[in-house]
Amino acid sequence: MNETFDLLMARRSERAYAGKEINSVEKAHIIGSAMRAPTAGNMMLYSILEVEQEQKERLVTTCDNQPFIAKAPLVLVFLADMQRWFDYYTLSGVPEKCRELDVEFETPKEADLMLACCDALIAAQNAVIGAEAMQIGSCYIGDIMENYEIHREMFDLPNWVFPITMVCFGHSLRKERKPSGIPRFPQDAIHFKGKYRRLDADSFELMFHDRINRLKKSGWVKGAENIGQHFYFKKTGSDFFREMRRSVKVAMRQWVK
Ligand SMILES: Cc1cc2nc3c(=O)[nH]c(=O)nc-3n(C[C@H](O)[C@H](O)[C@H](O)COP(=O)(O)O)c2cc1C
Repeated sequence: MNETFDLLMARRSERAYAGKEINSVEKAHIIGSAMRAPTAGNMMLYSILEVEQEQKERLVTTCDNQPFIAKAPLVLVFLADMQRWFDYYTLSGVPEKCRELDVEFETPKEADLMLACCDALIAAQNAVIGAEAMQIGSCYIGDIMENYEIHREMFDLPNWVFPITMVCFGHSLRKERKPSGIPRFPQDAIHFKGKYRRLDADSFELMFHDRINRLKKSGWVKGAENIGQHFYFKKTGSDFFREMRRSVKVAMRQWVK
């Protein structure tokens, strides 16, 4: 249809990369793409942290044992960031002005975290697409939300900065960029009009129709008797997810304090 649409259809997560550095021009394009993303109130409630090689090696373990992190030429952590604005508000005498006017000085709460996460994630996806346009593949690492205490120390994060996602980038090994064959659920399981629609058993069967053979081939987790049980034990009820819940709870307590 057009180049942008083709690019979106062909993108897939890439976890192995050509042994070639991402040069400074390419890096500037990736970060520049992120920074052109829409941002709530044009406040840019995020920061982008480039990870050093020794940090990458540590992240392999702290992000649920994913060795390809250390081999990615460029790894960026997208930080939901309210700290910058609150440092500026403080510097600008906002707390004193609030006292003078007898209004509450509002410090970041859950909503600020949500909005900053929106900003950071939208910026991250712009970076992914910008990279893709230069045949630089990428893969998100959601596990950066785990081990909050370790990552906080590793990156020197203040209270109102949370690492919402990390992305690995590297030159693609793909020979041609054709539409990704990785299945998605059918649109009518995802796209509703006007009101939310909960799915019934038949709709769920249709939802997994395109994935069932692939899932059967890759095998189910031990003890699981159907797809629902398989996914629960592999993802939602797994050790890494439990750690993520613990870690995010600690970070949120810190944030809303
Ligand atoms: C928020 C988020 C977190 C993810 N975390 C990981 C991860 O930790 N490790 C990984 O290999 N892939 C990760 N992925 C990539 C997904 O597994 C991938 O997007 C999904 O399987 C669909 O495949 P595709 O991107 O190739 O279409 C993540 C993707 C997103 C959006």
